[in-house]
Amino acid sequence: MKLFLIASLAILVLASPSHQSEDTYKACHNNFEIRPNICEKFNFISSEEAVQKGCVTPTNGTTFYDVSDLPQVNIEPNTATIASLITNVFEDGDVHFAYASCNNIQDMRGFTSGYAGFTTGTGDSESLIDSFTTTSPNNKLASFLSNIHEISQLPHCDRRSRGDTSKLEGYCEAWKQEACDENSGFAQLQKDWVFKNYMIPSARYAAQSGIYSPLGQAIFYDVIIQHGYQYVEPDINIVRLLTLTGPRSSEETEQSFLKRFLTTRRELQCCYPDNVWPASATRSEDLLSLVENFEYNKNLDVPIKLNNFGRTVTGHEDFNKDIKRCV
Ligand SMILES: *[C@@H]1O[C@H](CO)[C@@H](O)[C@H](O)[C@H]1NC(C)=O
Repeated sequence: MKLFLIASLAILVLASPSHQSEDTYKACHNNFEIRPNICEKFNFISSEEAVQKGCVTPTNGTTFYDVSDLPQVNIEPNTATIASLITNVFEDGDVHFAYASCNNIQDMRGFTSGYAGFTTGTGDSESLIDSFTTTSPNNKLASFLSNIHEISQLPHCDRRSRGDTSKLEGYCEAWKQEACDENSGFAQLQKDWVFKNYMIPSARYAAQSGIYSPLGQAIFYDVIIQHGYQYVEPDINIVRLLTLTGPRSSEETEQSFLKRFLTTRRELQCCYPDNVWPASATRSEDLLSLVENFEYNKNLDVPIKLNNFGRTVTGHEDFNKDIKRCV
């Protein structure tokens, strides 16, 4: 999932210079200038090797960390909405949810589609379409399931075969039709899946650090969407970021902890040895400026300004359909 998210950001950088500076390192200057005393702690060797290193074969039938020991949490509906909108701006450049997107972005994850970059090569599309087919057996994606199940049986490290889309002809058309059909429930299902599998776990990681403010929950959500919580990607996941940030002491304020957490994240983005992650440090910069004004922004009940992206999230957006792609 993550690679789609950052690759789409790269496309955004290329396609819309008005949202992003052409400078890949725009948010990596001054205190975030790449230098050994900042970057050493991440121990990146090279991005190619990092990918190899990340090729851990799962043995317990999941690529995710066990979160069952994390505290249970409550997420207010307004927090879920605003957090999703903020991350959507970072991922897709505006506040219209990308339910109907679908491309093979050549990252060896097959087709990448929808609101959270579900991919045919990594199992999340499979899980989503499986549950869609349970409630709507005649949906247009159901016929792809047997080939997607076959892909899931392939060895995890065989990225080339997992990313092969040659047996999935017509998948993107079917995806778009279902996502744009207001009666299919597919857009809503995508949203529910992300809530359950990303929003809730992210808020539970936040609670583990004593973070309960809506702004804090939104920050953890954005981090988990971009960095994941998969032990098969040990270099960059949220658990590593939290470890490198260090625990929150009982005297430390939420604001101070969030500042340290986002600073570590922005350093990681800037230090990562490719041209894609450093460009994404602009989102950390925007979140850091929200944290600077913590008292004002903490409840996400004011217009949320995302300066690097030229967008303001208000909560009045249409988040039920992909008005950009479904016309
Ligand atoms: C699966 O196993 C890995 C590796 O031992 C572990 O880190 C992870 O938490 C486990 N996930 C679940 C959901 O049990």
